[in-house]
Amino acid sequence: MQPIYLDYNASTPVDPAVVAAMRPFLEGHYGNPSSGHWAATAAKAALETARGQVAALLGCHDDEVVFTSGGSEANNLALKGAFFARRDKGEHIVTTRIEHPAIVEPCRFLKRLGARVTYLPVDGTGRVDPDDVRKAITPRTVLVSIMHANNEVGTIQPIEDCARIAREHGVLFHTDAAQSAGKIATGVNALGIDLLSIAGHKVYAPKGVGALFVRRGVSVEPLIHGAGHESGRRAGTESALLAVALGTACELARDLSPMHRMRALRDRFWQGLQQQFGDGVILNGHSTHRLPNTLNVSFVGRIGAEILARLDAVAASTGSACHSGRIELSPVLQAMGVAPHVGMGAIRFSLGRTTPGDEIDAALERLTDVLAVAG
Ligand SMILES: Cc1ncc(COP(=O)(O)O)c(C=O)c1O
Repeated sequence: MQPIYLDYNASTPVDPAVVAAMRPFLEGHYGNPSSGHWAATAAKAALETARGQVAALLGCHDDEVVFTSGGSEANNLALKGAFFARRDKGEHIVTTRIEHPAIVEPCRFLKRLGARVTYLPVDGTGRVDPDDVRKAITPRTVLVSIMHANNEVGTIQPIEDCARIAREHGVLFHTDAAQSAGKIATGVNALGIDLLSIAGHKVYAPKGVGALFVRRGVSVEPLIHGAGHESGRRAGTESALLAVALGTACELARDLSPMHRMRALRDRFWQGLQQQFGDGVILNGHSTHRLPNTLNVSFVGRIGAEILARLDAVAASTGSACHSGRIELSPVLQAMGVAPHVGMGAIRFSLGRTTPGDEIDAALERLTDVLAVAG
């Protein structure tokens, strides 16, 4: 049976153009970008070109881009780095109940070091109310971190409004754009934010590379101390190979035109599901403020993991997990107030740039078969 990949929010394949750009750095160009001799020249130039390509996607200055090992490190650097750098100003962090573990866990860690963390609620569609940001900020607040778009349901947050409120109060604003980069606009000035994380393997670069935008004038304490790489913000010899990969991927990601086709395909999938299952299928997330590639649906009264297990050769994700024999809803669906008998049946389908229409039709057919058999 033909395998079908509908899990692009989990990871994307590496774009052939990215592979081609990386090849010279695997086969040659081995110099250390920081060296002062001929062998460094190509690596150093490539590193800085790549930084410019990332900056172009984010609409920022080249020197505001710090390469990291991925989205998790970028988030850790933003949270811990800003917290440590602003310790004299306060210890309060505001975030939400629907963040990725790469935000939740650094917050938990910082609490052990004396941070106070406020987790903002979301509505039934997964959106934060900017007024709640205003209410949560205190004179001791040093950072607000709200994800741009949610990885499970795709809901897009009102980042501009939330960031404006933080700015009015002199509080730094970070957004985790690991899922939004390359799918919707992520210009840091239009968003009005100070720190932004991206992850290479969500934008058709390999795993193991990402970046953090750090606005000029904002200081973050490095997590990795050593020589002064990345302008003293992240020690360790830079990988020109991975930087080139991310840079090339970001260059491609600036073109959002493939999103029209992706949205149309996703909506065709949703319409097909509604025709097949009627009231038995429910959309999780916001109907319009949502990533164009993401479709999270609940098969009411069913168990998402069981459906996926029977859905031959279709790669997708479920929002429920089995813990000690009990099915538990994901924290995101819980925060959205999704009823257990609905949330248990959640499956996330996420499309990519090259998803063909016939894969969507085939996935729909296989789902129909599986659910008919399951009765
Ligand atoms: C919203 C979000 N933030 C952060 C990450 C972590 O990125 P990485 O896997 O590059 O560490 C992910 C990956 O799933 C994500 O979806």
